[in-house]
Amino acid sequence: MLPSPPNNLTTPEFNFRFRCIACGHGNDHAGGDFRCAQCGDLLEIIYPRWHNAKPDAEHLKSTWHTRRISSSTIDLSGVWRFRELLPTLNGDEQPITLREGNTPLYELPQCARITSVPRLFAKHQGMNPTGSFKDTGMTVAATFARRAGFRWVACASTGNTSASMAAYAARGGMRSLVLVPEGKISWSKLSQALDYGALTCQLRTDFDGCLRLLQELVRKAPVYQLNSINPFRLEGQKTLAFELLEQLDWRPPEHIIVPGGNLGNSSAIGKALLEMRELGLISRLPKLSVIQAEGANALVRTLREAAGKSLISVQAETRATAIRIGNPASWKKACKVLEATDGACEQVTEREIAQAKAEIGAEGIGCEPASAVTLAGLKKLLQQGFVKPQETVVLVLTGNLLKDPDYTIDFHRGELFEQKDTAEQKNETADAAMNALRRPPVVLDATLDAVIRTLELAEKSEQAKES
Ligand code: F0G
Repeated sequence: MLPSPPNNLTTPEFNFRFRCIACGHGNDHAGGDFRCAQCGDLLEIIYPRWHNAKPDAEHLKSTWHTRRISSSTIDLSGVWRFRELLPTLNGDEQPITLREGNTPLYELPQCARITSVPRLFAKHQGMNPTGSFKDTGMTVAATFARRAGFRWVACASTGNTSASMAAYAARGGMRSLVLVPEGKISWSKLSQALDYGALTCQLRTDFDGCLRLLQELVRKAPVYQLNSINPFRLEGQKTLAFELLEQLDWRPPEHIIVPGGNLGNSSAIGKALLEMRELGLISRLPKLSVIQAEGANALVRTLREAAGKSLISVQAETRATAIRIGNPASWKKACKVLEATDGACEQVTEREIAQAKAEIGAEGIGCEPASAVTLAGLKKLLQQGFVKPQETVVLVLTGNLLKDPDYTIDFHRGELFEQKDTAEQKNETADAAMNALRRPPVVLDATLDAVIRTLELAEKSEQAKES
């Protein structure tokens, strides 16, 4: 028998409330499915006290800056460092933290040359403790799960959420239940969930099927759901934008480009941008654009074919398995922030993703395929004139290169695309660009002679490329 669930997820003495994104109904409590009790739509977290007592922007900036040299556990977290704009902790309650956030903002000189955008940056969320942006949301949501007294937490996942949830649950002394589509997530991500002690169920369905089942499960069993439907997750993920703006000296870039899957992250970043403007931390909004894989383009179609009014689901298929999602839960939130920030939504092909990923890799940075849609998308937005070369652009790299080594190895060995893909998307210029990026491993006899000959051949081919 599972223990019975705690009867609510928060209490009114905290600094936040839940509000339905559709009907606006407000509540101090949320049910286990994190849906509006009136209309069933998603909830967001709001901070009603800001109406009467707005936090002072300059005071916030200096407080956050000072915490960068603090050695207290809570300040060392790049999420909780921004705690004035997050749901409050109880008295001396410590968050469940793995020192998430504080991720680097890299310049991308080679990609800048390729795209002719000199001020091009990558905010690398793959440098988080479990290798993806999920950690920034998980520290908040797992902390609230533990406070609410749950023994079990659960998620449906394409791999990164499950890896992150399993780690934070383990750190917080909770058990975790992972639902993943069988055979459709990378071994690296699966191995993380196993190592961190999750009960891992590989279901014979896709991500959308796993999420459907989870939502039924949380209504029947005392498990706390940690998908991005859970608004505490998005509060943590918001801090990416605070940190980014701090790194840019509070001068907003013209564009932030983010991959879109279940659409929680774009919603979170958009929420942060709007909050920062409301509080006077920034005076101008960057345009937030979402890029999807062509084979998992529900938001693209929803905006183009239904003007963002109703979701057009798709049967998702892409080698960028992290975003292999056809029925994104947070589509309404994403539509709202795209509209509010004047952002664009684009799709990119499998080949464009592969090339972009190799180009980022060649910078010595590396990311997982889902993250590379941002660079591929930027190229499209430049062609369309939506992004101008003189503007500052930040790509959000969501996951670490090591998350999906099979993809990278297949690319460099020339085995990523099947024959039918090649026929469908034959483009000789693109193929030549892609071939130039390939660095397949070579198998040699273990002799000095063989290695020197290989080195000379490599040097010759580099010189040919440069001339
Ligand atoms: N990039 C990576 C590396 C991801 O893992 C995900 C989502 C996304 C982008 C898309 O973000 O869903 O907020 O729009 N991964 C989820 C998971 C679904 O289960 O790990 P989103």
